[in-house]
Order: sequence, then structure tokens, then C-alpha cells
Amino acid sequence: MTSDEIIINGGRPLKGRIEVRGAKNLAPKAMVAALLGQTPSILRNVPNVSDIRVVAGLLALHGVLITKGDDPGEWRLDPSNVEQAHHADIDAHAGSSRIPILFCGPLLHRLGEAFIPDLGGCRIGDRPIDFHLDALRKFGAVVEKLPSGISLTAPNGLKGANIELPYPSVGATEQVLLTSVLAEGQTELRNAAIEPEIIDLICILQKMGAIITVEPNRVIFIEGVKELRGYDHRAIFDRNEAASWASAALATGGDVFVGGAKQEEMMTFLNVFRKVGGDFDVHDDGIRFWHPGGPLKPVTIETDVHPGFMTDWQQPLVVALTQAEGVSTIHETVYENRFGFTDALNKMGADIRVYKDGLHDETRRVLRREFEQAAVITGPTPLSGAEIEVPDLRGGFSYLIAGLTAEGQTKVTNLGIISRGYENFIEKLRQLGADFIFES
Ligand code: EPZ
Repeated sequence: MTSDEIIINGGRPLKGRIEVRGAKNLAPKAMVAALLGQTPSILRNVPNVSDIRVVAGLLALHGVLITKGDDPGEWRLDPSNVEQAHHADIDAHAGSSRIPILFCGPLLHRLGEAFIPDLGGCRIGDRPIDFHLDALRKFGAVVEKLPSGISLTAPNGLKGANIELPYPSVGATEQVLLTSVLAEGQTELRNAAIEPEIIDLICILQKMGAIITVEPNRVIFIEGVKELRGYDHRAIFDRNEAASWASAALATGGDVFVGGAKQEEMMTFLNVFRKVGGDFDVHDDGIRFWHPGGPLKPVTIETDVHPGFMTDWQQPLVVALTQAEGVSTIHETVYENRFGFTDALNKMGADIRVYKDGLHDETRRVLRREFEQAAVITGPTPLSGAEIEVPDLRGGFSYLIAGLTAEGQTKVTNLGIISRGYENFIEKLRQLGADFIFES
């Protein structure tokens, strides 16, 4: 047995309390933002996940001094000696994360140039960066595509621009925010993403001295300033991890208190959780999610940008829907290939049909997208143990839930991918009474 696999004896409800810390989809971006400051920054509530370690490595390569603070999850970032890293060193990080693309603006501001390695990230679609590069060009960057990544310069500096995104892309919105705050003049961003993690990044930039106004109708207005200082910020909680543990509680008939979870950022998920038959209680220090007994009910879900149902929430929830009495439908409108993980669930006894061209449904409320797909889940179907390999981050967590829900033993391999976004998930499974074999 290797430390990259776990054998789960399923059929036991998860019960107990776990804590979620800072959002995997905010903390690394906040670390990149520290590059923009003239003085050191402090980021708190940072989760111990591999995406953080990748970004820390890249920042260190560029001369940022990174030290751990006194409190757990506290990182100190001192960008005083930022210099250009050697391409070969940066290359070593190629394919490990999508975050490096967000180094463009900060490095162009600090060094006048940037080299970004080929990106990684979950295989849930093409994951293009055309919105990012188009925006950078509008700021005045010159982009050169190289065999191993992209090289950028800003011969005339970076100037504010009017940018309208073709789609409210989280990454492209972050790209514009991190570039515009020190650009000369004003930037107006239209059709911006407004996810809670985006608002948290705006709070960080505002603490640094940036002038950013979130206007109605997805418009963000940024007035460039001459310089920024460091920040002291506690990262927003990870709502995707919280929703994943909630789905595990539902699928296993359990009762899980997720410390650190907050209602406001999870409202759409909480509605669906209740409609499927789960119950929840909001406390000051977290949310209790439990299966109150009785059958789970089928639902129709359309994933969407915030405040819609988050695409990252659907994969863990699918396992609970395999236990619901009836037919559920999920319209995946954000990514064009996010149902690959369902093959393994069908191997375990689920009945999930994927429609690669999506499904027409007159009752739809979310704008239909060209590449969307749909999955139809018919339940309840008892799941039986199997050997399955983690395909991507959220699909991987759904495999843990499937193993916990199935009768018999399930061997889940390629666990490393789950460590990208779920801090100490093995320990948390132990805390919640899961029965498994794992050799670290
Ligand atoms: C972020 O990815 C998150 N990742 C994703 O979470 C999340 O699912 C996604 O936002 C949507 O909320 C991180 O923050 C690290 P996008 P990002 O740009 O920024 C298309 C997880 O499980 N697009 O909003 O890459 C793109 O193909 C991960 O934690 C372009 O076409 O997402 C997709 O269809 C998965 N061109 C859509 O926009 C571009 O230049 C949304 O992508 C950029 C994006």
C-alpha cells in the first residue's frame, strides 16, 4: 500500500466536528497580491494545501521572503527583494497550478517583465487564458508565447483600460484587479466575477491602498495609485470544502459540524441541501449539516457564476443524489467537461447518464451555454466497493464520499490531487469516525 491510496470500509455515517480554514481559491491569490506591496504582508487562516505550497515556491523564486507567523495558518510575505527568477527554476513549477498566470500584472509592475510557465489545474475543460491575455494587452503588455510558457513585457508601462469580459471569469477578474491597481489611470471592468473570494481579494487590495469600487451589474471600477503597502488579512473560509463535507454527511446519513463555515457565502448550496432532504443549523462558529432520516429527494440543479449554484459544489453532491429516490438532473454550465468522474461511480452501481450536448429544459433559469453538459442521476442505487482513481480535485473528494457510502471496501488511488484543496482530509475522516486503512 502507498501513501497515495486509501481503503475505505463503507456504510458508516460520518459524525463529529471538523474545521475548515481559508479558501483554496482565495489564499494563493492573496499571496500573489503581496508582490504589489512595498512593505510585508500577513495572511492568516491559510490552509495547508499543495496549491499554497506551489505559489509559495514561485514567490520565493522571485525573491519574496516567506516565513510562518506565530499562529497556525499565519504566513508572512516580504516582497522587498523581488527580482526576476531564472526561467529554468520557474519551469520546474510548470503544470502544477493555474495560479502562476496571476503573477503577470504584479511582476510587470515590479520588474517590467514576467515569464509564466505552462499552467496546471483540474482537467475539467480546456481552461484557456484568452481573457487574461486580452486584458493584459489592453493594459499595454506585450505577450510572447514560448514553447514552455509565456513571456511578457510592458515597454510603455501599464495603463488603465476599459475591459469587458466575454464571461464572468474568476481568474480573468483577478488578473484585471491585480494589474489595474498600480496601472496609470482608471480601469473599468464589465461582466466581472463577483464570487466571495473575489470580494475578499478586493478587500485585501483596498487594505493595501487600492481604490476599487464594486458597482451594480458586475461592473468594477479601479483608480490606479502610485504605490501599495502590505496587508494584514484573514482569508475567507473555504465554502467549497464546507459544501463537500456537507454532501458527505448527507450521502452517509451522518451529522457533521463544519467549523468556520458561514451562511451568507453558502446560501444557494443550503437551499439545495434542504431540498434534497438534508437539514442544517447555522451557529456563530460554523454550520451543522445532518441527514434527518427519511428518503433523499431528487433535484434539478443548474451550475452558474455567483450567486448561483457553484460548479465546484456539484461533484460531491452527485454521490448523495445517487441515493435520492427519483431522477435528478445537473446542468453544468461553467465547464465543458466536468462529469468524467461519474464513470467510476457507475462502476460502483450508480445510474448516471451524461449528455455531452446538454439537455434542453424549458424550465431552465440559467442562460444556456454552447459547451454545457448535463448529467441525469437515477436513484436510489446501492453502491458497492471498487478500486477507483482520483481524476480531479472535486471528483476525487466525491470518490471518498462514494467509498464512505458504498457497502464493502473501496480503494481510492491518486489521493495527492485531493491534497491540492482539502487540508488534512485523512485526519478529518478519522475525526468523523470513518473506517479506513491509510499508511502515510
Ligand atoms: C476558478 O477557476 C476556481 N479555481 C475554480 O475552482 C472554479 O470552478 C472557477 O473559478 C469558477 O468559479 C481557482 O480559483 C484556483 P474561470 P478559473 O476563469 O478562474 C472560461 C476548484 O475545484 N474561461 O471562472 O480558472 C473557462 O474555460 C476549481 O476549486 C475562458 O474561456 O475559472 C470556464 O469555462 C475548479 N477563457 C469559465 O470561463 C479564460 O481566459 C470559468 O472559468 C478564462 C476562463
